[in-house]
Amino acid sequence: MDIDAGDERWEVIAPSALPLDDGWLTPSAMTMDDIARVRGEFVDAARRALDAGFRIIELHMAHGYLLQTFLSPLSNRRDDEYGGSLAGRMRFPLEVAAAVRGAIGERVPLFVRISSVDGIEGGWTLDESVELAAALKDAGVDVIDCSSGGNSPKGATNASLKRGPGFQVPFAERIRAETGILTQAVGLIRDGAFAESVLREGRADLVAVGRQFLFDPFWGLHAAYEGGLDPDFEAWPQSYGWWLEKWDKGIRASQGGSG
Ligand SMILES: Cc1cc2nc3c(=O)[nH]c(=O)nc-3n(C[C@H](O)[C@H](O)[C@H](O)COP(=O)(O)O)c2cc1C
Repeated sequence: MDIDAGDERWEVIAPSALPLDDGWLTPSAMTMDDIARVRGEFVDAARRALDAGFRIIELHMAHGYLLQTFLSPLSNRRDDEYGGSLAGRMRFPLEVAAAVRGAIGERVPLFVRISSVDGIEGGWTLDESVELAAALKDAGVDVIDCSSGGNSPKGATNASLKRGPGFQVPFAERIRAETGILTQAVGLIRDGAFAESVLREGRADLVAVGRQFLFDPFWGLHAAYEGGLDPDFEAWPQSYGWWLEKWDKGIRASQGGSG
């Protein structure tokens, strides 16, 4: 068997036997047995996550992972009931969502991360995401987490989109407005005031922040302070929050504020 970087290759499966690009492994097209088995494996994984203490389940239907490859016409060329029309391409992801909802009960929040668009000609569109979100809502999903891209050899979230602050917020906004499902906005949300405006303007129900937390692990505390939500540093570790409160009041007093 070929060895790459010390790991043995595992068998790759996908909706259709299409490599992502020249030189990539060619997966085998999933059989009906594969589809039933993987659906069960999603259910098992969700149960393990709850047993391990997680309180929200998020299904990954984005970024070139298996369920997205069923959705996108770029990677799903099946001619059975799991491909073809939008309904066919959505069938397996919807079955997984319904099976997971059935297994975790009504009270555990169920999120689904989607690639709102492939960002590639001939690929998955925002109109299709609206249809998918409505169907996921009917299957018992609570929140659509609106990312994009990834069904491409160029990278996990690659899509030909102009990237600026909140560039994926319009996806969350449209899906929320047209289906009534809760949405989560993500992608280049860097300051608390902007995050707050996304929520207040009803463009999304939740915002997610990634790399800004790598840059500033206290981002949430700083955003709460700057937004006037935590003026007394009560959200900070108590062992030094009490001192930051004195420090802050001292600075304000020295500047002639009410302190
Ligand atoms: C180090 C790193 C690892 C990531 N891993 C994942 C992942 O496993 N699954 C996923 O859906 N997104 C992953 N992402 C993408 C983030 O969830 C997020 O969508 C993206 O970084 C955009 O948000 P941001 O601009 O706030 O960072 C990762 C991002 C970073 C920086």
